[in-house]
Amino acid sequence: MTFDNEVELHKVKEIFPEARMVIRIRCDAAVAQCPLGMKFGCNPHTEAPHLLNVARALGINVVGVSFHVGSGCKEPAVFRKAIFTARQIFDYAATLGYNFNLLDIGGGYPGDHGTSIDKIAEIVNLALDDFFPDPMINVIAEPGRFYVSSAYTLACSIHSIRAVNVEDPVTGHNTVNYMYYINDGVYGSFNCILYDHQHIVAQPLKKHTGNKFYPSSIWGPTCDALDQVIDKTLLPEMKLGDWLVFENMGAYTLPVASPFNGFPIPKVHVVADENIWMLLKDIFPLSESHFVIGNTPANLRLGLDIDGTDTWSLPALPITIPVCGNGGLIEEHVLEFVGPIE
Ligand SMILES: Cc1ncc(COP(=O)(O)O)c(C=O)c1O
Repeated sequence: MTFDNEVELHKVKEIFPEARMVIRIRCDAAVAQCPLGMKFGCNPHTEAPHLLNVARALGINVVGVSFHVGSGCKEPAVFRKAIFTARQIFDYAATLGYNFNLLDIGGGYPGDHGTSIDKIAEIVNLALDDFFPDPMINVIAEPGRFYVSSAYTLACSIHSIRAVNVEDPVTGHNTVNYMYYINDGVYGSFNCILYDHQHIVAQPLKKHTGNKFYPSSIWGPTCDALDQVIDKTLLPEMKLGDWLVFENMGAYTLPVASPFNGFPIPKVHVVADENIWMLLKDIFPLSESHFVIGNTPANLRLGLDIDGTDTWSLPALPITIPVCGNGGLIEEHVLEFVGPIE
């Protein structure tokens, strides 16, 4: 178990004195998507020596050092600094009679499409060669985002649209801004916006052939105005029932989702060929109902250009929305339904 404060040491001494403990030090990347240092990690210079002395006096078995430079680390060089600092703690602990054998280099590795761990790996390997050449030291990491950032692509359908006229403060012209309401939001998969400071990119599923794009915002389904997925983006004009897709939606998304306001937590469908299905099907928490083989389940097929016989129709009601023309006059525009969605 890790510790970074004295209270923890006394607690462990009291209830689990034989525990093997790891001192967590703070070494923050200059830029990280989710800094962790303000919550965890003792100062390696001003606090760690004191804590190790307390541990020694209490007879606690400290076996190593851990750090986490920050999730979504944007400063690969910080790993060298952190590993060097850990070396200093190992050496200090040795003066107290400890013989550390564990170095935990935490998380912070990238996982989005198009990113690579190579730069960090090179820095880590070189620093380990320089500061921890002893093969008896166990070096472990705690990769999170690295494995799952790009684990899935989220597909959301548009169930409501609001067109709002906005006057350009410079030109005085009115432009139409579209507000799209989709079936997932910050209380569901997109909680990564609030808790993981994710930058979300929306792409229409269907290829857009025209060259007209409109300022658009994207909103989740709940009653809360905080439930906004994208504040401003440019999109072609989308229709009811159209799909938007979001890549890199694996990390810190579904695990934190809640059914707030009665909206169910999204279900994951694994689209895989049969060989992969055979490998994965018995692995908890996946069950056969999560898989799509050959025939896409009807609920996923809606609006997708996937071969199939299921049809599902939007209700044939015209929607009218007030739209201001350039002269500020109110016109009635009828949004046309795209008809039955195959
Ligand atoms: C202690 C610890 N280890 C590992 C991780 C995973 O970090 P990442 O997703 O940046 O790899 C976290 C994330 O918060 C963490 O707190």
